[in-house]
Amino acid sequence: MSVSWRQLWDTTATLTGRVEARWLCEEACGQTGSDFIAVLDAAAGELSVAHLDAMVARHRAGEPLQYVLGHWSFRRLDLLVDRRVLIPRPETELVAERAIALVGHMAVDGGRWPLIVADLGTGTGAIGLSLATELPSGMVEVWLTDLSPDALDVARANTAGVGNAGTCVRFGQGDWYQALPTRLRGELALVVSNPPYIAPDDQAIEAAVRDWEPAAALFAADDGLAAIRVVIAGAAEWLTPGGWLVLEIGAGQGAAVLQLLNASAFEQTAVTQDLAGHDRIAAGCYVP
Ligand SMILES: C[S@@+](CC[C@H](N)C(=O)[O-])C[C@H]1O[C@@H](n2cnc3c(N)ncnc32)[C@H](O)[C@@H]1O
Repeated sequence: MSVSWRQLWDTTATLTGRVEARWLCEEACGQTGSDFIAVLDAAAGELSVAHLDAMVARHRAGEPLQYVLGHWSFRRLDLLVDRRVLIPRPETELVAERAIALVGHMAVDGGRWPLIVADLGTGTGAIGLSLATELPSGMVEVWLTDLSPDALDVARANTAGVGNAGTCVRFGQGDWYQALPTRLRGELALVVSNPPYIAPDDQAIEAAVRDWEPAAALFAADDGLAAIRVVIAGAAEWLTPGGWLVLEIGAGQGAAVLQLLNASAFEQTAVTQDLAGHDRIAAGCYVP
């Protein structure tokens, strides 16, 4: 007996909710947006139904939708995501936006092209690949680094997915700045990072996040500030004078991070909020 995509969407919605059901049906069908709507009354193939059933079962067992789908959008990118990496978040799109704006200004203010930038703890490559793809060709050389070789494999795959824009991307594996070649000391126009910043004993973290996303991408000692401290402490050695550090931070960390930046060689320091009004982005300009 044949079943239409409309029927499958309705049935799936009773199990997962309507919005999730649409994502899952679109994935199984291979059509998105208006193309999916156009085939709503067409019969679904047997393989597509089996694929949908398998995805629904995984999601109902608690696996985040993004891992089940195997990809997720971030700004203009469609990124591969799986359990090796953090699922890119909407608030991180604002971090990327800030980094892109700062580099754009430095480039028109006479900065020598390519400006060298580093996305430390790159995960999927979300922030760094946004810089690589949204800035004009030739403006930046982008270093994507991570301690996790698995995460870097995902970042490499995502870089392959951006085509020509990926030719300005380099990779480094290691602990924060140790992943970068020493010749880049004092040469970086921008360091951007979304480091782990959740305190290990944070009770507010959702079960699906704690159970499914890599712990190394989430948790940091010292009330979640340990990795942020390392990235701030090392920045002066790697940034060029006038270069910028941009960090994603936790909602309650604004005052502490501002203090850390102000105690280092940073000027024009500021913490800005995300769309929910939470402290989310800390930035400062390195002035030795
Ligand atoms: C919060 S996730 C951010 C991932 C990605 N940049 C994003 O914004 O979606 C933090 C990343 O930092 C990496 N990481 C954790 N400890 C690290 C370290 N000591 N050195 C470098 N990267 C590290 C993790 O593997 C993870 O990919």
